[in-house]
Amino acid sequence: MAVFNGTPITQFPKDFLWGGATAANQLEGAWNQDGKGPSIDDALPGGKARFAIAGSPDFDWQIDEKKYLYPNHRGIEHYQYFKDDIKLFAEMGFKCYRFSVAWSRIFPQGDETTPNEAGLKFYDQLIDECLKYHIEPVITISHYELPLNLAKKYGGWKNRQLIDFYQRFAEVILKRYSDRVHYWMTFNEINSAFHFPVMSQGLVPSTGSQDFTNIFQAWHNQFVASALAVKFAHQLDLNLKIGCMILYATSYPVDADPLNQLANLKVNQDLNFFCADVQVRGKYPATTARLLREHHVDPQKLTITEQDLQLIAAYPVDYIGFSYYMSTVTDVTHQNAENVAGNLVGGVKNPFLKTSDWGWQIDPTGLRIALNQLYGRYQKPLFVVENGLGAVDKLTVAGKIHDDYRIDYLRQHIKAMLGALNDGVNLMGYTPWGCIDLVSASTGQMSKRYGFIYVDLDDQGQGSLERIRKDSFYWYQKVIKSQGQEI
Ligand code: BG6
Repeated sequence: MAVFNGTPITQFPKDFLWGGATAANQLEGAWNQDGKGPSIDDALPGGKARFAIAGSPDFDWQIDEKKYLYPNHRGIEHYQYFKDDIKLFAEMGFKCYRFSVAWSRIFPQGDETTPNEAGLKFYDQLIDECLKYHIEPVITISHYELPLNLAKKYGGWKNRQLIDFYQRFAEVILKRYSDRVHYWMTFNEINSAFHFPVMSQGLVPSTGSQDFTNIFQAWHNQFVASALAVKFAHQLDLNLKIGCMILYATSYPVDADPLNQLANLKVNQDLNFFCADVQVRGKYPATTARLLREHHVDPQKLTITEQDLQLIAAYPVDYIGFSYYMSTVTDVTHQNAENVAGNLVGGVKNPFLKTSDWGWQIDPTGLRIALNQLYGRYQKPLFVVENGLGAVDKLTVAGKIHDDYRIDYLRQHIKAMLGALNDGVNLMGYTPWGCIDLVSASTGQMSKRYGFIYVDLDDQGQGSLERIRKDSFYWYQKVIKSQGQEI
């Protein structure tokens, strides 16, 4: 009997989770309806300057509609249109749909003891609507949408009390939905606090984002909270799968100079692996001491108890969800190397790659490398829960969107995933980001579109909200139907 299968894999497994991904704060709208409280995202102005504004020392989280436009307040009104939207996902053949539950819809201020029933009911309906079409719901518990009160009153995730608030929230929704929802993730892009502590930790300069001690403490609190959610989920039902979710950007050294090789090794250890190491292996990696030293953190100032470490060790995640949009290049030896403008994770320009309209370096092979690196390191199932091309789409006079550039991007990435399956990687599924156009997280724009479905709404919030199938809609439908053979 042959131990190894010599036949190349030409299609994705039958149970592969094809689908799409969104987040509550970026599409639901209804920001203050049916008891929902404001979230940090509701206080972020739209436009490319949103992080520059939030990063100014006097940013005070006041919502001032006379001064700024807040596109997240309206989203794409998915709160009203969810049945139509899910019907379109079903038409594409989705096997799963990744969405997040808005914490501020369930606990409007974050620190209440009783949940908001109207909020819970909304997700009951959303889940039931998915199940009607045999679409498996995949829930992100916390996706860039901390209740604003927890940022303002408690200072965000650096405050240990948030562990209790999160635990309450996670337990309420796990208990309510676990009979119908089998796949969960604890925190969206938990490692993104290296770049954006505002979204993932509710920290801005005035609440301490300039001090890495706060960012690290916030992570620690999130690791404990994540472990508690895993514990509770498995107590409820051992069949529930609960994962972490990290932002992964493949990083290359610019050349063979050992100095660049070493610098790149550290970039990977910190940006790509640090959080996953803790959540997957259940312990802080040996590189943590260096990470703290390099960021001038005095370990005495951190609150980390024995009990915390035991929890983290006892309840690692079941799988690794990750987003993949781009790769980056590390260069510490060339003073004048050109940085790549707009690349979310920075780095220098890679002459072998093209960039998106927003400057993100497009690199499908980097996804195959990412899958191999993650699987080789952790040997846990992987789930690509975000990937896609943010681009400007043009509606033709005939009412069509010919987005061949998006098809090409996704095709190359799907081929890379098939390559990784042939490399021996265990990959559970693929949920391209923003399967329906929604508000961009980094820029608050509608014009940065990812969807298979066009939504008629512009950056000023004007438009009919009509949903229109793009060319990529029909293409993805075929991909799913053929299990990835017709791409
Ligand atoms: C990820 C986030 O960083 O990338 C999403 O999890 C986000 O919330 C997505 O929308 C794409 O980024 P952007 O800034 O183009 O919306």
